[in-house]
Amino acid sequence: MAKSRCLEIIRAAAPTVSVGIVTANLLSLGSEITLLERTGTTLAHFDVMDGCFCPMMTVGPPFIKAVKTSLLKDVHLMVAEPLNKVAEYVAVGADLLTIHVETCAHVHRVLQVLGTLKNANDPERGLLRGIALNPGTPLGAIYPLLDEIEMITLLAVNPGWGGQKYIASTTDRIARVQRIIADSGKDIVLCVDGGITRNNIAEIAATGVDLIVAGSAIFDGKAPEANARFMLETVAAAKK
Ligand code: DX5
Ligand code: ZN
Repeated sequence: MAKSRCLEIIRAAAPTVSVGIVTANLLSLGSEITLLERTGTTLAHFDVMDGCFCPMMTVGPPFIKAVKTSLLKDVHLMVAEPLNKVAEYVAVGADLLTIHVETCAHVHRVLQVLGTLKNANDPERGLLRGIALNPGTPLGAIYPLLDEIEMITLLAVNPGWGGQKYIASTTDRIARVQRIIADSGKDIVLCVDGGITRNNIAEIAATGVDLIVAGSAIFDGKAPEANARFMLETVAAAKK
């Protein structure tokens, strides 16, 4: 199967940072987005929490639709039973759509459904289907889904909040998933999400992951533009 335009854009940018939008100052989201576009960021990360799969509730399709940007929309669904919900998120402009393997009995079917949907921003661009694994979820869950995904996200925190501490065992899980991907012979993007700071991003970038999600370490209420530039430059410098 030919590489999607979306995957080409990410491969060209990788390794890079996907910036957590929900931790931005939502009262001036427009200027926060413009700031990010100015820094050369490629991806905006939307944490969708439903208050069921994880205790917090954040945003939904109307919010994602309202965000007008040239950045790719990296939508991270932390919602229970996503089967009848994914089409709505694609319709409002998700370019990358990640579901959690822990959220339903029919993960394979959800991914198959996603595989039939067109990118609403640009039907030629294609859609990246991702699976996310919580820190406590065995990596074996990946194998049966390898034919239906273009991205794997390892959560380095238990989902629900920004600003949590990076769980150290994630670094070993990154290496093991890199081997799973290499053995599969497939072009699958590897992402790590949660607990990224100015102090640990260089070390995590050095593992060779393609995407690193960073939220509160960028939108710290002080210097988001300088933080974003620092993170982007540090990750780019780790390019193998
Ligand atoms: C955690 C979310 C992460 C989180 C990132 O449930 O999936 O995307 O918001 O925020 P930081 O970078 O502050 O850990
Ligand atoms: Zn996330």
